[in-house]
Amino acid sequence: MRLTIAIDGPAAAGKGTLSRALAEAFGLAHLDTGLIYRAAGRRTLDGTPALEAAQSLTAADLEADDLRTPDVARAASVVAAIPDVRAALVDFQRAFARRQGGAVLDGRDIGTVICPEAEVKFFVTASDDVRAERRFIELRDGGHDVTLGQVLADLRERDARDSARAAAPLKPAEDAVVLDTSGMDINAVVAAAIALVTDRTGIAPVA
Ligand code: DC
Repeated sequence: MRLTIAIDGPAAAGKGTLSRALAEAFGLAHLDTGLIYRAAGRRTLDGTPALEAAQSLTAADLEADDLRTPDVARAASVVAAIPDVRAALVDFQRAFARRQGGAVLDGRDIGTVICPEAEVKFFVTASDDVRAERRFIELRDGGHDVTLGQVLADLRERDARDSARAAAPLKPAEDAVVLDTSGMDINAVVAAAIALVTDRTGIAPVA
């Protein structure tokens, strides 16, 4: 089976939860492409030049346990605006997307640049306040010393940079299904997305 599901959207919109749920439901591999940019951004915080960081990433870099911090998120968004950095990461993502057995990829440019041919595309979004609150709870529960106001300001700054950049900006593909998760229970979002994948592809969930 060569099913590729592309999921894009701004920070903390619910992309990760939806991607993991779809991967499990249809028995697909999952790649969180934000982690790749976070791993590259993380290395720049140690002084490695951005392109060198992107070109020399290893699997271990993606498994580092400090990729979810606000500083790394900001550094990821900064390196992600550099066209050569994005170009260095394209082949790996495309190969993953077309792997035998199918894949779900989530990020900012999956439906527009990495997999324009994906069989199903979602653009997941939610209001700024809802996203900030979700990310605030995640960070606070992870032991980070942050305020809701800081998290909201960080999200807005990052979304603005990710949307305004010239190279592969954050935007819905023309054929993406937009899911606004603001007032929706995540289980309802997942159920709607599973039904849509089956409707579009004729493929039934396996789990
Ligand atoms: O999904 P995330 O919040 O972990 O992503 C971190 C940053 O990486 C995000 O602010 C922009 C960048 N990114 C990107 O430019 N393209 C992607 N496909 C995924 C992430």
